[in-house]
Amino acid sequence: MPFTRTIMLTMAGVSLLIPSLRADTDTNRETERLTCMDVIMTRRSIRRFRPDPVDRETLRHIVKAGSYAPSGGNRQPWEFIVVDTPALVDQVYPHVRWLGGDPPVGQRPTAYIALLLQDGTRHASSGGAAFQNMMLAAWERGVGSCCIGSIDRDQVNALLEVPPELHLFVILALGYPAEDPAVHETAESLRPTRDEHGVLHVPKRPLEDLIHFDRFTPPQE
Ligand SMILES: Cc1cc2nc3c(=O)[nH]c(=O)nc-3n(C[C@H](O)[C@H](O)[C@H](O)COP(=O)(O)O)c2cc1C
Repeated sequence: MPFTRTIMLTMAGVSLLIPSLRADTDTNRETERLTCMDVIMTRRSIRRFRPDPVDRETLRHIVKAGSYAPSGGNRQPWEFIVVDTPALVDQVYPHVRWLGGDPPVGQRPTAYIALLLQDGTRHASSGGAAFQNMMLAAWERGVGSCCIGSIDRDQVNALLEVPPELHLFVILALGYPAEDPAVHETAESLRPTRDEHGVLHVPKRPLEDLIHFDRFTPPQE
């Protein structure tokens, strides 16, 4: 069965219906391929997941995308630990923190990818490129993810046997989405909030508030 999902993107009063891709590349002809910009604009951090697992081929594909990210001096200063054994997935869960409320039992991630960097946080920019690549590659295949920086690192390092010379930079929580967050362009509060129906509303700063041409222009009073 192809994984298909329809995403309602409401931005600046414009609604776009975007059919996204599924996990099975053999079924591409049945669905419309997303452009790079579609993937960027429709990806949201997902914190509620369906129970069906993400298969190893898809997880390898996601890590491959991370490993092809740009890095300073092409050092590729990373290692990736894929956690998909259910018992270990359950053990990681209590050591990560969720914005907007913990996912209930039955809607928790089915896999994690821990991104380890050499030399502490010296390669943070390269690490950011790697995790963004992975989130976008996952989304293109219908897999939701959330980058988690708020981690009990001592506990997770011990669980995953991370060697002391590597820094646990972030963890990606992964799984098939069981929520469809709404994005809003607004200059007001930037805090994502969940409404009474459980829908997460994610504010984004409008382009006109943050773009400058040729030189920095202070905001108009
Ligand atoms: C470096 C980094 C660390 C993050 N850490 C957490 C975290 O610890 N817990 C969480 O629930 N979300 C975390 N997020 C996800 C952000 O909350 C999310 O990207 C933001 O609310 C915007 O939503 P969007 O990703 O749907 O655009 C993190 C994102 C980044 C890039």
